[in-house]
Amino acid sequence: MSSIYREMKLRRKELMAQMEPNSIALLTAAPPRMRNNDAEYLYRQNSDFYYLTGFTETDALLALIPGRKQGEVVLFCQEKDKAKELWTGILLGPDAACERLGIDDAFPIGDIDDILPGLIEGRERVYYSMGKDDQFDNRVMEWVKVIRNKAKLGAHPPGEFLVLDHLLHELRLFKSAGEIKLMQQAARISAEGHKRAMAHCRPGIREYELEAELLYAFTRAGSRAPAYSSIVAAGDNACILHYNDNDAEVKEGDLVLIDAGCEFGYYASDITRTFPATGIFSPEQKAIYELVLKAQTAAIEAVAPGVPWDEPHNISVKIITQGLVKLGLLKGRPSQLIKSEAYKKFYMHRVGHWIGMDVHDVGDYKIDDDWRLLEPGMVTTIEPGIYISPDNRKVPKKWRGIGVRIEDDVLVTKKGRKVLSVGTPKTVQEIESFMAKSIH
Ligand code: GLY
Ligand code: MN
Ligand code: MN
Repeated sequence: MSSIYREMKLRRKELMAQMEPNSIALLTAAPPRMRNNDAEYLYRQNSDFYYLTGFTETDALLALIPGRKQGEVVLFCQEKDKAKELWTGILLGPDAACERLGIDDAFPIGDIDDILPGLIEGRERVYYSMGKDDQFDNRVMEWVKVIRNKAKLGAHPPGEFLVLDHLLHELRLFKSAGEIKLMQQAARISAEGHKRAMAHCRPGIREYELEAELLYAFTRAGSRAPAYSSIVAAGDNACILHYNDNDAEVKEGDLVLIDAGCEFGYYASDITRTFPATGIFSPEQKAIYELVLKAQTAAIEAVAPGVPWDEPHNISVKIITQGLVKLGLLKGRPSQLIKSEAYKKFYMHRVGHWIGMDVHDVGDYKIDDDWRLLEPGMVTTIEPGIYISPDNRKVPKKWRGIGVRIEDDVLVTKKGRKVLSVGTPKTVQEIESFMAKSIH
């Protein structure tokens, strides 16, 4: 068994140790998804399923049955099938699955309805990811019904159904050394992509041409897909938070906001950089950019163990609100403008989110009603922004249509923090001198 599968085995052990006595957990592989008739999206395994198995095929189910004498970890997967493999590639098959993945028992997925009810029978509790996939919810109930129908013969159907997500996602929230390595590599590749796009930018280019530079860097470094649809937004488009038409022309005088990150080895990166199309910031663009950078720098510095999750956010709100007042874009006392949430006209999202196998990763932000405290091994983005709507008649015209976001991926360490997404120019001076040296 290779080391990657050994780590997954440990995760299964850790999860099983936390399950209630006499229980079973069921996880299903992601289904293939159709883009349109006969054409599938590139297959991507469900993150939970991959986290516990490393198995990348569809049509599979994992059952964790702590304490089962004949084996605690059971996989159902597709059988070897020469005809099928000719079309869609090699299948591992149940026989090889045990050795490769380090699981105890494997069966053909076609036999699941005959075997799984027997594995559930006698278990008091069933953990699964309830309410996310109607089809899976129905199948679990079908298996339970099979047991219930045999109750008169002495069979014991489970009495409790529990959401698996909480236990599992709490594990996923804390990244191991191996996971951090992959996240660092994902961030390194993305930083390369951002540099390529920045270097190729010039007025007259189309947003999708810059996207092509990102994708080139991602793919040639071994990333099979971006972690989310890349945002390449020039001029006013930067004020649309999830813009991804990416087909407008970049004009002289525009700022270009690129929010893009690759996925590498099942781990996401998420980086935003904003830079001027010509390579030189206008005075207004520079003022807004430096304010966002000041907020981002302070928010990153606030990341440390023991700090409540919302503290970096609150720091960024304070700095941005004070700065907008100084620039005359907001009027009033900063404390009042924060209380009334007037700043949200310019800064309407939170400062970050967990990141890991999913770009918006799993894990609770609050424990009971309180923001949780940061702990070593957690990774969060820090991404403040200011967006001045092109329609905002309350501010002088010269400010309208400026949108700036700066985003990095930050690991909480024992002593403080480590920024994973280094290597892309970030200060005004770094950006201007990098772009002056590039090809426009
Ligand atoms: N790219 C999505 C986000 O920044 O959250
Ligand atoms: Mn982003
Ligand atoms: Mn983000």
